[in-house]
Amino acid sequence: AIPGPLAGRHALVTAGPTHEPIDPVRYLANRSSGRQGYEVAQALAALGARVTLVSGPVDLPPPTGVTLHRVETARQMLAACRDALPCDIAVCAAAVADWHVAAEATRKIKKTAGALPPALTLVPNPDILADLSTPGPNRPALVVGFAAETDTVEQHAAAKRLAKGCDWIVANDVRPETGIMGGMENEIILITGDGAEQWPRMGKQDVATHLAERIAAFFTPDFSS
Ligand code: C5P
Repeated sequence: AIPGPLAGRHALVTAGPTHEPIDPVRYLANRSSGRQGYEVAQALAALGARVTLVSGPVDLPPPTGVTLHRVETARQMLAACRDALPCDIAVCAAAVADWHVAAEATRKIKKTAGALPPALTLVPNPDILADLSTPGPNRPALVVGFAAETDTVEQHAAAKRLAKGCDWIVANDVRPETGIMGGMENEIILITGDGAEQWPRMGKQDVATHLAERIAAFFTPDFSS
């Protein structure tokens, strides 16, 4: 273990999109790059935490000094997160698909000339953040969610914090013109039980570093960087 304010703490981080199969060759997905979650995992490890990173499919190198579990679907991500418990800190940065296809086809769905396209029935995925936030002996001391919003970011994120039962929400504006989703920079509002803080626009690595320092300060109020 490397020394640091988070030495002896176990942190669980989710990152990336999930892929929800339609058939063996097709899936539903989203534009998450996984970059912010990978940076958070790395930043927590740099402060001495033992980090378990549960990642959906991304095109990023595995962070060093972090245990990586790769998954594809939301259901697999939830199972991997539960397997990683207990932990002190959970940071849910994954862009989990809201739905999966009810009946995944085991063979490629064929297009048939003249036939109607297939109708997909979607069913809700488990909410991993809400699951990890549920009170109980295994609940991490600090659960942090993300909220990607396009409108009235702060209000939606504050409502989300309460709805999910997590402690903090890192909210960001993902309107396409911000370039945040899939980009290198982020501009966030940190929502805690004490209120909302707007952070200046900065690289995703800097957001991760500052967030990890805030997490360290939560556990060790005397810690300052
Ligand atoms: O509900 P919404 O997707 O906006 O919430 C975003 C937050 O919830 C993120 O922290 C995300 O990782 C988490 N989440 C989750 N499981 C889901 C949906 C969202 O962990 N099924």
